[in-house]
Amino acid sequence: MKAFSKGHLLAYAAAERRRFERSLREIVEIPSVSVDSARARDVARVAGFGADLIRAMGGRARIIATGGHPLVHGLLHRGPSFPTVTIYNHLDVQPADRADGWRTEPFRFTPAGDRYFGRGATDDKGPALTAHWGAAYAMRHGANVNVQILWETEEEIGSPHFEATIRKQRRALATDAVVVSDTVWVSRTQPACSTALRGLQGFRLTLETGATDQHSGTTGGPARNPVAELCALVAECLDARTGRVRIPGFYDDVVPPARWELDELRRSGFTTATFKRDHLLRSLRVDDPQEVMERLWCLPTFEVHGIAGGYQGPGLKTIVPPRATAIVSCRLVPNMTTSRVIRLVTTWVRAKNADVTVEVGHGLAPYRARTDGPHPEAIRAALRFAFGREPVRVREGGSIGAVLSMERVLGAPVFFLGLSLPEHGYHAPNENYDWRQARGGMLAFADYLRRAGEIGGQTSDSRRAPRRRTAGKE
Ligand code: BES
Ligand code: MN
Ligand code: MN
Repeated sequence: MKAFSKGHLLAYAAAERRRFERSLREIVEIPSVSVDSARARDVARVAGFGADLIRAMGGRARIIATGGHPLVHGLLHRGPSFPTVTIYNHLDVQPADRADGWRTEPFRFTPAGDRYFGRGATDDKGPALTAHWGAAYAMRHGANVNVQILWETEEEIGSPHFEATIRKQRRALATDAVVVSDTVWVSRTQPACSTALRGLQGFRLTLETGATDQHSGTTGGPARNPVAELCALVAECLDARTGRVRIPGFYDDVVPPARWELDELRRSGFTTATFKRDHLLRSLRVDDPQEVMERLWCLPTFEVHGIAGGYQGPGLKTIVPPRATAIVSCRLVPNMTTSRVIRLVTTWVRAKNADVTVEVGHGLAPYRARTDGPHPEAIRAALRFAFGREPVRVREGGSIGAVLSMERVLGAPVFFLGLSLPEHGYHAPNENYDWRQARGGMLAFADYLRRAGEIGGQTSDSRRAPRRRTAGKE
């Protein structure tokens, strides 16, 4: 059988399945929760595991210190005259607690038939290993491309050190294109090519009206209630039933979807019923599938993640609480900017309740990928080859901080080749990945990299190699 034929690739995937599963088990069982400082050693451990894996597959790898959690840099090098494609994934994961509704231990890799349960299985350890196995095949069978790997371990906390780190390393990281495998399809039977990400801007709104709990019989009435005031403030920001954001000017910069995007939404096979089932939602603000998709992918939001304050225990405790905090964020779409959203939210909050303090979190701008040109075409062809169906082009509702940074610093276009499915449960209990997506994903990555070798590039090696400095530059 010929290399890169479907038969040859399927035989490779079948032969590698055990080894792939063993690696996925090892990596899922490292609880690399980046948000939890008590897990910093596990996050470092996952980076070490990643670097070892790249070396075991015949590549070079190093761990780059960032000031926070480390970055893994790998290189599967074919030759100086070939273009370089960078594959980006993240190896850090969301927290997980058995009590949240997990049927298995979250940090135990639990296979069940073709499914693999465990925190990080689909976000993003499974796709990371899948892409890597595809790349290893492509290298072994002579794709004319160098593959660079970037495995971040701070993605789930907004990539706070990523941009500065790659800026310092930008010569060593020169690349012709970047492919990110950290996005979701519309459904198992409908491969998707993402064309955009939403941005994110977080806030903590805090109100303090006293010093300690006080008896609500002796203070209630005249005493202000910070929990109730924050609820009122949230209601000023958001019409909770419709989802409409009430902050003046909030929608001004939103670019509505183009005709072709609406056409793609219509042929995506998205249904409200499966969306509800996949995410265990009882009812929605809107039921029309087109409207659901537009809200998910093309419109901004104001979300309340939690309101903390006051009594949470059994029965009744008759106190007036002294303080409350609301943790909120806005998803942003093209062409909104984090700076404008910060200004709009803080101005509105100040006008509505001057005693509320606003802490502004790390912001991520929205991203729009190029949808034409040789790389997007090669990705679509690879998905067609691997999964036997024409992919749809849709936007994504989520955010990936590193994407804009890579485009900005490396000056290379960033594209998406995601492998996760809605029912895999991003960030949810019982997160899982499955062998069909892994096997197809290996085929898709191998096929894409073969095509990328034919596209060529600016031979990034000549840019990577040490050269005489031009006075005043870099
Ligand atoms: N893989 C997701 C991003 C994503 C989510 C893409 C949904 C497509 C659809 C990523 O790991 C993630 O969860 N990002 C966070 C970033 C935040 C913590 C700064 C997000 O979107 O909330
Ligand atoms: Mn992810
Ligand atoms: Mn995530």
